[in-house]
Amino acid sequence: MSQTRLLPADDTGKDGAAAILRAGGLVAMPTETVYGLAADARSDVAVARIFEAKGRPRFNPLIVHLPDIATARRLVKWDDRAEAVAQAFWPGPLTLVLPLAENAGLSPLVTAGLDSVALRVPAHPLARDLLLRFGGPLAAPSANPSGRVSPTEPAHVMEALNGRIEAVLDGGPCAVGVESTILGLTHDTPRLLRPGGLPAEALAEVLGAMPQPPEAAAGITAPGQMTSHYAPRGRVRLEAIAPEPGETYLGFGPLPAGAEGAMTLSASGDIVEAAARLFHCLHELDRAGAERIAVAPVPDRGLGRAINDRLRRAAAPRGGPESTSYAP
Ligand code: TXA
Ligand code: MG
Repeated sequence: MSQTRLLPADDTGKDGAAAILRAGGLVAMPTETVYGLAADARSDVAVARIFEAKGRPRFNPLIVHLPDIATARRLVKWDDRAEAVAQAFWPGPLTLVLPLAENAGLSPLVTAGLDSVALRVPAHPLARDLLLRFGGPLAAPSANPSGRVSPTEPAHVMEALNGRIEAVLDGGPCAVGVESTILGLTHDTPRLLRPGGLPAEALAEVLGAMPQPPEAAAGITAPGQMTSHYAPRGRVRLEAIAPEPGETYLGFGPLPAGAEGAMTLSASGDIVEAAARLFHCLHELDRAGAERIAVAPVPDRGLGRAINDRLRRAAAPRGGPESTSYAP
C-alpha cells in the first residue's frame, strides 16, 4: 500500500474516511480513550485486514463501535443492567460484553467466533460523526501494532502503521488516554473484564455492587460455551497435503483433484481471503456433517500465524486448556 493519508477533521476529511470504510479500507479514528483502527464490522475481508495491519498473532475478539444505544440493542440480547449502565455512561469510555443476537450481521472474525460481542458508543465527536456518515458498525481495536502501546496521538499511529492502513482521521490527542473499561454482562454476575477509563466504582453505583473480577478459568470450566462457534464438531488433522479416505479436505490454494466435498480457504492462496473465510468454512464443515477434517498447511507468516493459532485450537483435544477462546 502507498502512504497513509492524514485526513483533516473537516467535512472533506470525514467524508473521505467514510468512503474508505465503505470500500472495505482501514481508518484510524480518534476516540476519547485511544485511537482505534476501524473497519466495517460486517465485512470479513475488512476485519481480516485489521489483524493483518496490526500483525496480531491470533484472532482476539474486537470492540464494535456504534453511534447510539438504539443500534446496540439490535445486535445483542439486551437487558436491564445493560440499559442502566448504558444510560448512565454512554457515550463514554465503557465497553459492554453481551450475548450476540442471532442475525446481528457481524463478521464472525469480530467476535473471534464467540457467542458474545463487545459494544461501545464512543463520546469523541469525530468518532460519532464518522459512525453516522459511515452508517454501520465499526470494529476497532486500538490502532497499534500487536504488542505495542495504544496510540493517543495521530503521530503515534503514523509512526507505527504508515503504509499499512489507508488513513488516519486527525482528532489531535485523546482526552482519556487509557482504553475503555470492559464490563461483562453475559452471565448473572457482572464482571470487570478490563479496568479502564471509567472507574469501577462508578459502575458499582449503578449496578448496586462492585463488578466481580473475571473468572480465572472461564474457558476451561465452560469449554463448550467458549469454543462452540469456532471448533468444528469433526476431528481436525493439520498440515495435510491431501485427504485420506473418510476425511473432508479444507485446502489453502487450489484443491487437489478428486477430493470429495472439499473446500478451500482461498483458491488463489490469498492469506487475507483465507482469514476472512476461516470461520465460514468451519461452520460449513459442521453443516456438511464432516466427521474427520484434514486441513492443508497454511504459511505461518503474517495473518497465517493467526489462522494457524485458531486451527491448532480447533485440532486440540476438546475440553483442555488449549480450547480456551483467547488470552485477553
Ligand atoms: O478504548 C478502547 O476500548 C479502544 C478504543 C479504540 O475503543 N479499543 C480497544 O480495543 O482497546 P482492543 O481490541 O485493543 O481491546 C479489546 C478488548 C480485548 O481485550 C478483548 O479481549 C476484549 O476487548 N473483548 C472483545 N470482545 C470480547 C468478548 N466477546 N468477550 C470478552 N472480551 C472481549
Ligand atoms: Mg489494544
